[in-house]
Amino acid sequence: MVIKKVELETVCGYTSTLPENTKPEIAFAGKSNVGKSSLINALMNRKSLARTSSQPGKTQTINFYNINDEMYLTDLPGYGFARVSQSEKEKWGKMIENYLNTSSQLRAVFLLIDIRHDPSANDKMMYEWMVYQGFEPIIIATKLDKIKRSQVQKQLKAVKQGLNVKPGTIVIPFSAQTKQGREEIWDLMDQIVEY
Ligand code: GTP
Ligand code: MG
Repeated sequence: MVIKKVELETVCGYTSTLPENTKPEIAFAGKSNVGKSSLINALMNRKSLARTSSQPGKTQTINFYNINDEMYLTDLPGYGFARVSQSEKEKWGKMIENYLNTSSQLRAVFLLIDIRHDPSANDKMMYEWMVYQGFEPIIIATKLDKIKRSQVQKQLKAVKQGLNVKPGTIVIPFSAQTKQGREEIWDLMDQIVEY
């Protein structure tokens, strides 16, 4: 897709009603600090339209980025962020769950996992829940630039095994720093949107 226009169109907190978009949506989920907002910026060719931070818990709302009036990228708040209260966590969880459950335009979900670490219990729960909801999550192994090339295959295997992915699951290594993996992700998104 040639990106002509990108815009943060809708921001939803717990109390907001979700937008009734008429164009396909693709959502990006994953634990806090895994690189969701950085990936969305890289896909849009923007440095900082989606706000990123080295402190986990930056994105606290569901943010819908309109691309060319053709599709939306949905930036979700991260889960597993320790420094928020239990009630806050539950509200975020419900907000994410409600969105994934009810959006009529949601075509695909990308689940981001840090390539350096084995998936957490929350990652596994999220993956299983997505599968249960009928999605076939696409896994993005983020922060590829942080490991040696010789470690990549081993870490990808650990991610797949840790999540116990279904056969045929797509796993793409990605770096927001080098942009490695960006084209592959766009190829997939183009297919998803056209379909
Ligand atoms: P929340 O909004 O808190 O859920 O986090 P997020 O998943 O949106 O993460 P964000 O994109 O804000 O990135 C978190 C930190 O990781 C930032 O300091 C980013 O610069 C860094 N980061 C993200 N992706 C990469 C990457 O591919 N390589 C490197 N080296 N750093 C990255
Ligand atoms: Mg974020």
